[in-house]
Amino acid sequence: MTKSSKTHLRNPRSKQLLRPVHIVGTGSYVPDRVLTNADLEKLVDTTDEWIVSRSGIKERRIAADWQCTSDLAVEAARRAMEQAKVNEDEIDLIICATITPDMPFPATACLIQQKLGAKRAAAFDMEAACSGFLYGMEVGQQFITSGTYNTVLVIGAEKLSTIIDWEDRSTCVLFGDGAGAVILRSRGEEAGHGILTTCMGADGSQADILLMPAGGARYPATKESVSGRMHHLKMAGKEVFKSAVLAMQTAAEEALRRCNLTIADIKCVIPHQANIRILEAIADRIGAPMDKVYVNLHRYGNISAASVAIALDEAAREGRFQRGDLILLIVFGSGLTWASCVIQW
Ligand code: UT7
Repeated sequence: MTKSSKTHLRNPRSKQLLRPVHIVGTGSYVPDRVLTNADLEKLVDTTDEWIVSRSGIKERRIAADWQCTSDLAVEAARRAMEQAKVNEDEIDLIICATITPDMPFPATACLIQQKLGAKRAAAFDMEAACSGFLYGMEVGQQFITSGTYNTVLVIGAEKLSTIIDWEDRSTCVLFGDGAGAVILRSRGEEAGHGILTTCMGADGSQADILLMPAGGARYPATKESVSGRMHHLKMAGKEVFKSAVLAMQTAAEEALRRCNLTIADIKCVIPHQANIRILEAIADRIGAPMDKVYVNLHRYGNISAASVAIALDEAAREGRFQRGDLILLIVFGSGLTWASCVIQW
């Protein structure tokens, strides 16, 4: 670290010292059912060799019919609450990042609030696709920094299997279901620890390269929208790939620059788990050896907003970093959206 990280804690406008925000608990949950590449070979014209060589994915988890996104989220949330030793009455706010809400409204976060019995908590959903979890963490952090709330539960949860086109081999091999969660709080005394900076960005001019066209106000559900398979995820893979690498590289470099850090200061890089070739390209561009990059996409595929949340929980529980270590999170998704975050654990 080349400069005191305490600088981030100063509000540039008011010069006031801000409350540092910490991740005091993490949790994740993936459903039991495993869908392997061999299973997919029976479903569409694909091969294990193609999927592994083009994406790095070997298997993914698929939720049971009875499990909604809120059920996956609640499992992850309970694990984060248990680790943080936070009970449901202490939660002030629940933010759920998802593109597969249980239903268009009410917000899935409200359904989670009810299932957790977190009666005091305000609750809303955050829609920034695969970037949603870091967008949600930043929003949660702002509420704590400002003194509005003390304890915020942020969840990334997806049941992508419900919007995948299981006849489209170019997308159905890539995605899975699961959830990850964090409890945000200020530990008060430790200025210089916690979330040091978050950078967020968006580019709506490329909204059409990764989307689900129907089901909203533009194309409400009709017989034609269903028969035209418009209620499924569509992706121009190559275009998304190129934008993902550039945006995640730029976001990572910006976060490091803001904290006066270099990649050598970072103990663990946790990127959105979309494609091993994207991860390798980013690692190469920011100068991170691959053993610094946390990878679980071979087991789960891409779980949109849940990916980085699950990876963070697993990396923490595996001891990939210790208290005081610096970690870098980087995400990218539909919108287009992207974000990066440096945390001193
Ligand atoms: O979470 C948001 C972020 N998402 C991403 O970042 C995903 C970004 N994109 C990617 O990861 C990659 O573009 C893919 C994995 C989706 C595709 O890899 P690619 O190297 O860009 O392949 P491609 O789409 O250019 O397809 C190459 C060939 C095509 O055949 P032709 O036209 O060359 O004959 C495809 O039809 O591979 C064919 N193909 C497949 N073959 C076997 C596409 N999907 C499959 C498949 N199995 N599942």
